[in-house]
This record gives sequence, structure tokens and C-alpha cells, in this order.
Amino acid sequence: MAASFNPTPGRKSSSADTLRPNQGIIILIKIDGSCATTDHDRTIRPPSLRIGDIEIRVPIIQGGMGVGISLAGLASAVAREGGVGVIAAAGTGYTEPDLHTAFIEANRRGLEKQIRTARAGTDGILGVNIMVALSNYGDLATTSAQEKIDIIFSGAGLPLDLPSHVDRGRAHPKLVPIVSSGKAASILARQWRKRYDYTPDAFVVEGPLAGGHLGFKKEQIDDPAYALERLVPEVVEALRDFRDAAGRPIPVIAAGGIYTGGDMFRMMHRHGAAGVQMATRFVGTVECDASDAFKEAYLNAGKESLRIIQSPVGMPGRAIDNEFLRRVDRGEKVPYSCPYHCLIPCDWERSPYCIANALFSARKGAMHQGFAFAGANAWRVDRIVPVHDLMESLLGEYAEAAEQDSGGS
Ligand SMILES: Cc1cc2nc3c(=O)[nH]c(=O)nc-3n(C[C@H](O)[C@H](O)[C@H](O)COP(=O)(O)O)c2cc1C
Repeated sequence: MAASFNPTPGRKSSSADTLRPNQGIIILIKIDGSCATTDHDRTIRPPSLRIGDIEIRVPIIQGGMGVGISLAGLASAVAREGGVGVIAAAGTGYTEPDLHTAFIEANRRGLEKQIRTARAGTDGILGVNIMVALSNYGDLATTSAQEKIDIIFSGAGLPLDLPSHVDRGRAHPKLVPIVSSGKAASILARQWRKRYDYTPDAFVVEGPLAGGHLGFKKEQIDDPAYALERLVPEVVEALRDFRDAAGRPIPVIAAGGIYTGGDMFRMMHRHGAAGVQMATRFVGTVECDASDAFKEAYLNAGKESLRIIQSPVGMPGRAIDNEFLRRVDRGEKVPYSCPYHCLIPCDWERSPYCIANALFSARKGAMHQGFAFAGANAWRVDRIVPVHDLMESLLGEYAEAAEQDSGGS
């Protein structure tokens, strides 16, 4: 019998909780001298994820969540568990006193502090997420490399010139673009080869169920042709020649709507992903850097609360509906001035509100002045748990799915 445990006191223990990862093998010596093993040794762990010379013990990347949702607290907690903890660079300077007078320096300092704080809390793998749309993109990439971050993830646009912002000396960060199609992956890989003689170290493929800004047209979001299950093999295929030419693997990491260890198993063993990136699930953790009110918006969300908005950035995004967004729907404008123009595509004079202010307000808990970005599965978040417990239950579910797949033997 597998030992039963309940990772989250106060809820009914499910079958997914019955396997404990990391348990090791318990060998029983029988009276007659022969050996037997308990069920614990059958716990199947996912293969580690290799990005260049970095080995990620648990192939789970915590997706970057901008404007203060994933900072040093969450990132270091995930890295301690063997995954990749990711600090979102967007908005790291928002608590610096000189933000309005020295935007670039304030954000650089803010990001440095977050990386150093996270590093003090773990010797695990840390990444930053830098959106291409940020006006101080290059500076944030250079700062991250100088701070010796392990991996830079970059999306919300094609990071065509990312390699030019980092010193690609011996221990440079791994460079991982985030894309939403095979076409985008091959355009980017071709450009990097031509301009920098560099092959991306891995790719994240983000499907339409993700939270935050989405790399799809509105009408593509519910179209099965753009489902993550289709995009992952498409990107793997698009990278085949680049991988052969580079003579090394280019791991493809699946993101968007992955919620359980079972989802993780399917993405990795049926669709060709080498790992997964998850964000929404990590909002429901004690260590997530957002306010309690932000997390409560997730706890209170029903399926019908999740909606697509047209962001001032010019891309669709997925968020939890609230009174602020309904006021915007009604054509109300939230007056503001824009001292620093943080996002290149933002047409701030015509935009009904400042997205940076709105997201920062929500992060602090002033939900009436902003809103929460969230993935399509945010309605399933029903408790706040420590990152350790979440990672354990994901690995337990993964093991259960693996056992079922192999016939439970
Ligand atoms: C609150 C929130 C903020 C996000 N902010 C960013 C961001 O700043 N940059 C980015 O590339 N992706 C961002 N994302 C997308 C995530 O990094 C991730 O790839 C995606 O949400 C994965 O899908 P999941 O949330 O269903 O797990 C955000 C997602 C959420 C939920």
C-alpha cells in the first residue's frame, strides 16, 4: 500500500496525494533473508531538464509574472525545490524613490536588489523574464547578465537582438525566447544564427491558455488549431535543423494552462516538451510576492470571471474580470500622465488607463484601481499553499500519471 499523506491540511486527501516524491527506496529485509521493496520505490520522477550545462532537477519553470507578482520571494522558493525560479523584470523599480526622475537607474537598481535577494535565499537555478516591449529592455538584460543570472527568458514580442545585450563570455546566461508558433521559433533561430552565430539555449512555447499578454489574435485564442498540444510538436519540428546544425539539443518548454502533474506528464511524454512553465498555479502560494487581496481575486474567481482584454500594449491579455475592467468597457478613462513611457507599443495618450499603474495597484491589493492577469485555469486555485507542498503534489500527480500510463504495474 502506498502511504497516504495530505499535503494541504484542511482538504480531503485525493488519490493524487498518495505518492510521495523524493521518498527514496525503503528496503525491507525479510526474515528469510530475501529483499522486498515498499511501493515508495515505484515513485516515478520526471527526467531533469538540461539547458546547456545547467541541470534543472525538477523540470518546472515558474513563469515570470510582471509588476511585482514574481519577485525574489517566489523565485527563490521555487529554485530551492529544484525548479527554476523566475523574477519578472517589469516593474522591479516601482518601489524605488527616484522611479519618476530616473526610470532606467531605478529599474536597474530594483532588478539588482531582487536578483541579489533571491540569490541569498537559494543556490538553485534563477532566471529573469524580460518583455521585449519594455523600453529599457536592453538595460535589464545587461543588468541580469552582470548579476550572473542563470537564464534570461524573453517574450511579448520576438527578442531578435537579445544576444547583443549580454556579454557572451564563458558563464553568460542561457538565452531562452518565448514564442507562440513554429514560424516565430524558426525566424528567431535564423536571425540569431545570422547576426550572432548563436543558437537559442531553449524555447518556451506559450499557448493561448496562458495568463497575461497573449501572442495570438483574439479569434485564435479558442481555435483548437492553436492549442498548446499542437504548438509544442510544431516548434520541436521547426527547430530540428537548427538543433542538428548546432549539434546539441534545443529543449522546448510548454507553457499555458498546465495545472497538474498529470498535465505535465502528458506535455512531456505525449507532445515532446522537455519541461513545463507554470505561472497561475504559483499565484496560489504563500511565497508569491503579490498581496493577499490579489491572491484572493484568484480564490474568488469562477470560470466565468476569466476574460480576454485588449491591453494598451496592443496585444490581447487574459485577466480576472472586475469593476475596474467593466469601467474601462463602459468607456471610462482613468486620467494619468506618463513620465517614463515604459512600454514601447503603448499609445499612452489614447489609452484609457496606464497598464503599469493598474497592475501595480492590483499587486498592492488596490483591486478597484487595477486588475489581475491570470491564466485560463485561475478559477481552479482554491487554496494558498507553501511552494514546497505545491511542488510535492505536482510530482506526486506526475508519478501517478506515469504509473497509469505504464499500466499501473
Ligand atoms: C499574473 C501574471 C503575470 C504575467 N506576467 C508576465 C510577464 O511579465 N512576462 C511574460 O513573459 N509572461 C507573463 N505571464 C505569463 C507567464 O509567465 C506564463 O508563461 C503563463 O501564464 C503560463 O500559463 P499558466 O499561467 O496557465 O501556467 C504572466 C502570467 C500571469 C498569470
